[in-house]
Amino acid sequence: MTTQHIDRRLSIAPMMNHTDKHFRYFMRLLTRHAVLYTEMITTGALLHGDRQRYLDYNDIEHPLAIQLGGSDPTDLAQCARIAENEGYDEVNLNIGCPSDRVQNGQFGACLMSNTELLGHCVNTIQAAVKIPVTIKTRIGIDDEDSYEFLKMFVKTISEAGCDTFIIHARKAILNGLSPKQNRVVPPLNYERVYKIKRAFPALNITINGGFTELDKIKSQFNHVDGVMIGRVAYKNPFMLVDINKHIFEDATALATREDILLKFKDYVLEQCNNGVNIKSLTRPIIGLYQGRVGARQYRRLLTEAMPDDIKAGQYFDNIIQSVSPATNYG
Ligand SMILES: Cc1cc2nc3c(=O)[nH]c(=O)nc-3n(C[C@H](O)[C@H](O)[C@H](O)COP(=O)(O)O)c2cc1C
Repeated sequence: MTTQHIDRRLSIAPMMNHTDKHFRYFMRLLTRHAVLYTEMITTGALLHGDRQRYLDYNDIEHPLAIQLGGSDPTDLAQCARIAENEGYDEVNLNIGCPSDRVQNGQFGACLMSNTELLGHCVNTIQAAVKIPVTIKTRIGIDDEDSYEFLKMFVKTISEAGCDTFIIHARKAILNGLSPKQNRVVPPLNYERVYKIKRAFPALNITINGGFTELDKIKSQFNHVDGVMIGRVAYKNPFMLVDINKHIFEDATALATREDILLKFKDYVLEQCNNGVNIKSLTRPIIGLYQGRVGARQYRRLLTEAMPDDIKAGQYFDNIIQSVSPATNYG
């Protein structure tokens, strides 16, 4: 399956409790140059849970990938078909999550050492859909952390039909570290990912892990095809505007924080009218003024409860006015 139609130079990582449809809508106001990912959705949740809640998205989110967690080829293929019918542009398999819950379900990072099963999953999913099937993984797990291990993993899974790998450049430690610790404790090894790209030049390789600065992101294109950013997207989302300007040379994007908030306000009001709770709508924007004068006051207003005596529109205007116009630029 060719993945050429998706520009993969920049993507925004799947993140549980963050990358819901409201967050992704907000991301899209900041940049059109990123592939967006859902939170990980397990096959069990999609097949037996509130399907529409998991799948719902806004049209502007394209290109949009669904991230699945699971290891039963038939279930994965069924979920992929559902996602394709729903209009998703890509199916991504989570082969990086180290949580106990995920290990108990025999999926996530532990599938790195079961390439036979994973290959079967990739093959079965790809036979079921026309959209690309991609893998998000780590550079290794536990003691299986050599370059040769990763190379063999990529070779086997690419032969099973996957041509796009997103590699979080640190290994996962399955026992003794929480998922949060697994995002900081194992050291980053970017060179390992570059070496994989050199070994498999025809594969699309995206690097992930620890990218927070524009120049560092830009320099990755000398080594790999794409960069996936995670935490910085919610801690300092305005950085995406800089990426638009300095990496994609896109001057059409919304330029100020206030422009972005005003546009997002329309969305907030529409969603509030549909009964969505204001808190889930304001959560994505908490980091927008990161590092700017007034950021603390802005964050405080957003995290406090909305006063009973005002409506959502007024509440949102108060938030916008809480930060002076001077802080909106740059
Ligand atoms: C709160 C949070 C939730 C995450 N949830 C997922 C997830 O659902 N699926 C996944 O593949 N990775 C998940 N990750 C890992 C990120 O996708 C990413 O690989 C990791 O944060 C490293 O990138 P960063 O250093 O740019 O944040 C999560 C990370 C965070 C911080």
